[in-house]
Amino acid sequence: MKQKVLEGFEKVFGKNDDVKAYFAPGRVNLIGEHTDYNGGHVFPCALTIGTYGAAVQRNDRKIRLFSMNFENSKVEEASLDNLDGARGAGWIAYPVGVVWAFAQRGFKPETGFDLVIYGNIPNGSGLSSSASLEVLTGFILRDLYGFDVTNQDLALIGQYSENNFNGCNCGIMDQFAVAMGKESNAIFLDTADLSFDYAPIALKGCKIVIANTNKKHKLTDSAYNERRSACEKALSELQQVVDIKGLGDLSIEEFEAHKDAIKDDDRRIKAKHAVYENQRTIEAVDALKAGDLEKFGKLMNASHVSLRDDYDVTGVELDTLAEEAWKIPGVIGSRMTGGGFGGCTVSIVKDEAIDEFKEKVGKAYREKIGYDATFYIVEIGGGPTVL
Ligand code: GLA
Repeated sequence: MKQKVLEGFEKVFGKNDDVKAYFAPGRVNLIGEHTDYNGGHVFPCALTIGTYGAAVQRNDRKIRLFSMNFENSKVEEASLDNLDGARGAGWIAYPVGVVWAFAQRGFKPETGFDLVIYGNIPNGSGLSSSASLEVLTGFILRDLYGFDVTNQDLALIGQYSENNFNGCNCGIMDQFAVAMGKESNAIFLDTADLSFDYAPIALKGCKIVIANTNKKHKLTDSAYNERRSACEKALSELQQVVDIKGLGDLSIEEFEAHKDAIKDDDRRIKAKHAVYENQRTIEAVDALKAGDLEKFGKLMNASHVSLRDDYDVTGVELDTLAEEAWKIPGVIGSRMTGGGFGGCTVSIVKDEAIDEFKEKVGKAYREKIGYDATFYIVEIGGGPTVL
C-alpha cells in the first residue's frame, strides 16, 4: 500500500524526493454504541485497514488533494487563505476541515501541501473512513509543520473539525479509536473525562468478522443528530431531579428511580438505551478481563436488541445480519457497530464456524434483502504512523 500511494503521488504530482507515506486506521466498536455523546463508555479498536496518504510541503499557500478511491478523480485545490471555501466541497472538506481546526487552535501552516490518499476501508461501511482521514491529515500536519500536539489532541481536533466544519455532531469515539489505537488491544474509554485503558483482545480460537450491509442510502446525519438531541433533552429533564453531568453518570437503579422526570415516552426510551448500554459496556469489559468471552458475546447481542428496539437505529438490513448470526452455534456475539441505519455488524465467531457463518448469513441476507452482504475478517491494528 505504501508503494501504491507513493506511485499514485508521483503520477499525479510528479517525482519529489521529499514525499513521505503515512497511514491511519479505521475502527470497529465492539460494544458501547451511542454512549459517547452521553458521557458513557465505549470499547472500540483500531483496524489494520485504513487510509494511506503521501504528502509533501509546498512553498506557496495552496493545498492540492487527490483521492485514488474514485474513478475519474481529479486534483482538488484549496487555499490556506480561504479554508472556509472548502466547506461542503465533498471529500476534501474533511482534510481541509482539519487544517481549519488546527488554525482555530493557533497552529497555522505558512505554506500548503500536496496530498494523495488511498483508503481500503469499504465505502460507507461505518468503519470510520472519515475519522481515519481526519486523523491521517492531523498526523501529517504534525509531521510536516512540527505542531506540538499529542495523538489525543489529533482525535479532539478531528472531532472538532467534523462537528464545526462538516456539520456532523459526532462524539469522540471514532477519532479517539483511530488516533490512540494499539495493536491487539481494544480501548476502554470513558467519554466523560477521556480516561482510558487498553484491554488485550486475545480471542482464542475466534475471529472478529465484519458483515457489511452494503445498504446504499443511509440517513445517518439527520437521524444521528436527532438521537443526540433527544438524549440531551432527557438529560436536562433528569438534571432537575438528580445531580449528573451526563446520562453515563446514572446506574440502572438510579435511572429507574428518576426516569419519570423525562416527560416524553420516546425520549425516556432513548435515554434508557444510553444508560443501559453504558452499564452493559462496563460489564462486558469486566467479563472479558475475567476471560468470560461467552458473557461478552451475550452482552453484544443485548446491545443490538437495545439499539433495535429502544434506540431505533438498526433497520431490516442490520437486524437480518445480526439475527441470522445469532442462530449459528459458533457465533459468540453479533451486533451492529457504529452509528447504524446501514453500515456493518461486528461478530465474534469461532474459527471453525466462519465458513458456515458467511454462507448461512449471506444466503439469508440475499433472500430477504435482495442483494449481497460482504464479509471481512479483520485484525486489530495500531494508531497512525509514518510508513
Ligand atoms: C458514529 C459517531 C460516534 C458514535 C457512534 C455511535 O460512529 O461518529 O461518535 O456516536 O456513531 O456509537
